[in-house]
Formats: sequence, structure tokens, C-alpha cells
Amino acid sequence: MERCLYHGDMRPTLPSSADAAPTPESAPRSGLILGIESSCDETGEAIVRGGVEVLSNVIASQIRTHAPYGGVVPELASREHLQNIVPVVRTALQQAGCSFEDLDAIAVTEGPGLAGALLVGVMYAKGLAFALNKPLIAVNHLEGHIHAVLLEARKQQQTLAQPTLALVVSGGHTHLYLAEEIGGTWRYNNIGRTVDDAAGEAFDKVAKLLGLGYPGGPWIDWLAPHGDPHAVPFGPITVKQKPYRALQKQSPRFLFSFSGLKTAVLRHVQQHAMKPVIEARREALAKLADARPSDALALCDTATLNLIASFQRAVVEDLVRKTFAAAETFHSAGIVVSGGVAANGELRQYFLAAGQKRGLPVIFPSLELSTDNAAMIAAAAWPKFMSGDVATETLTAMPSLSLG
Ligand code: KG4
Ligand code: ZN
Repeated sequence: MERCLYHGDMRPTLPSSADAAPTPESAPRSGLILGIESSCDETGEAIVRGGVEVLSNVIASQIRTHAPYGGVVPELASREHLQNIVPVVRTALQQAGCSFEDLDAIAVTEGPGLAGALLVGVMYAKGLAFALNKPLIAVNHLEGHIHAVLLEARKQQQTLAQPTLALVVSGGHTHLYLAEEIGGTWRYNNIGRTVDDAAGEAFDKVAKLLGLGYPGGPWIDWLAPHGDPHAVPFGPITVKQKPYRALQKQSPRFLFSFSGLKTAVLRHVQQHAMKPVIEARREALAKLADARPSDALALCDTATLNLIASFQRAVVEDLVRKTFAAAETFHSAGIVVSGGVAANGELRQYFLAAGQKRGLPVIFPSLELSTDNAAMIAAAAWPKFMSGDVATETLTAMPSLSLG
């Protein structure tokens, strides 16, 4: 057996793509896929039926573990995934009211992400698929984010205009993809990306710089409406150079860059002597057991709130401007926006308004499915399962996996 996981004679084998490809006779019994997500700091497990119906979507968040460090500590993330993965799978099965035997396949995030964190999910999924003798499906995390939107669109029987332009905007990525479904299979063409920091990373770093909590996005999102977004004129962000060979195929018009904006915020802080206020805020928040963005409001002066609002407006305007320019250039029939930053209130408002103005449909996932979760992994696995695109025993974590 060419693709078996182990070559011991009596052991069950990981079904090969040929074995697992559902034919009309061997159509899926239940349509149930267990999704496993462990690419960063959320251990997620979900049961999704037919790529549409979310029966359970359980997340063990590591925010409290990483918050004192103001960012994800990879070793701690791996350790927490190891501790959480089995109980979270049990809870996901329980909430869905099903057992391992009811599953048609196991889907897992193979990359991109933190190597150690990904490995926990991939090795667990391989072991499970082997023990249960069920097909294993490898999913790209970025494709998962796109399918979070597709899942909900399908559920509402919304047909997605094709080709669709997908903006995946998270803590690790700010990427534009032209996405198209051809014969049941999704194809992606990466037409834009960040050349340095991802937008979510910029939110997190600026929040840390200003003495706010982690992850920074929700803090800035909550505080920004209290400031004046025109107070600090950051101006439009342009990327003139193509710094890497890998970017040669993308037009500079669709390249993002947020590290300069982050430095501009730092410079503003230095020039306006804001450090003492920031340190006082950091210390005050550190004393609270479970600090929330609302706790920070009383600790922010007008200058800080204006800086926060201006930073967020600069990011949002840049994302909107370049995404709609790409949509026009590539004759996209609609836009989907996903990833953690897609939870941002001002971002949603600006994208929806721009879509309405141009007559271009813009779809977001629900807030729950915007940030990392396993339902999106199980949903992205469904078309792969249906077309027999099954992983082999060589599957491993791919920290730098790209899409398109
Ligand atoms: O997709 P995600 O959960 O994980 C990655 O794949 O990176 O995204 C996490 C990122 C973090 O940088 C976080 O600060 C950001 O999404 N984020 C937000 C908001 N909620 C989460 N950024 C802006 N506004 C939000 N409401
Ligand atoms: Zn993500």
C-alpha cells in the first residue's frame, strides 16, 4: 500500500486519495469533518457538516498566557496546544453530539504558522486519522480564512460573485487573492501582500507601544472612536520598491507596508513626550486582574486617543484603497474580507460603504469566524474531501506555506 502511514502488515492504513475519493456509491455517510487548528495561539476544534453546518466550534484561547509578553511566545504556544488539544476535541464532539466513528474525515491546518504549534495539530490529526482509518485533509490556514466567509455565504444561500477578491488580513498576513471556484475546486492567485508587517501585527505593536493590552487590535478598535482620526496626518501609504524577488509578480499598487506607519507612531510618541503617560497606563492596567479596553479609556488622554484614531484610520484607508483598486484592475465581481483584523468595526464600515458606492458586494465573516477557528478549516476541507484531495503519510507542518 503506497500511501499507508505505517508499513506494518496488520495495521490500519491512512486511506489514500484513491481510497478516499467519494464516488456516488461511496458518498459521504455523514458529511461530518473534524477541523483542527493550531497554527498560532488558539487551539480550535470544530465539527462541520457538508462544509456549511457548524455543529460545534470550540476554541481554547491562550491570550492570558501570552498577554504579559505582549506577543505570542512560540514555546508557550506549543505547550498549551499539547495540553488543550485532547480536551477541546472531546468538547467539540460532545457539543456536536457525535463520536469519532461518525466522522467522514479529519482536517488539519498544515501551515503557515508557528512550526511547533502547527506540529502539535498535524501530529495529533495524523495519529487520529491512522487510528480511526479515516482520510486526513491538509488545509492552508489562509484558505481557511477565506472559507470562513464562504461557509456563511453558503449557509445563507448567497451565491458568491466570481471571480472574488479575497483580502486576508490577520496578525500574520495582509494578502490579496483572486479566488475562483472551478469544477468544485478553489483556485487562488496571490496578487498583493505586505512587504513587512501584517496589519494585525501593526495593531499589536502600536498597542504595545502605547501601553495597551494584548492582542492590540480589539483595544485600538474600541478606543479609536473616542479620538479624532484627522488629528495626526499619517498620509497615504505607498510602496514604491519591490524589495524581494518573490514579489516580482505583484504590482506595487497592491503591496502593503505597515512598518513605516508603526515607526511614525513611535516618532510621534517621542516628539510629544508621551512616554511617562504610557508607562503610567501600562502599570495601571497591569494591576488589574482582567484588564479590558474599557478600563484603558480613563487612562488615555486626548492626545493618545487622537493618535490611536489616526493610526486606525490610516490602516483602514490603506486596506480599502488598495483592495478596491485591485478589484477594479482584476474585474473582480465581489470582495470578501477575512482574518482577525476583519473584526475591526471601522474597517467593516469603510469596506461596506465603499462597496455600496461602487456597486460591488463586500462580505465579512461573523465576528466569531473572523479570528482563528477550526470551523473554517473543516469548511475549507470539504471541497478537498469531495474531490479526493487527501493528505499522505508525509504530511508535516509547513510554517512558510503560501497560497496561490
Ligand atoms: O486571524 P487571527 O486570529 O490570527 C492570525 O492568523 O494571525 O488574527 C489575529 C490578529 C491580531 O493581530 C489581532 O490584534 C487582530 O487580528 N484583531 C483585530 C481585531 N480583532 C483581532 N485587529 C483590529 N481590530 C479588531 N477588532
Ligand atoms: Zn489566522
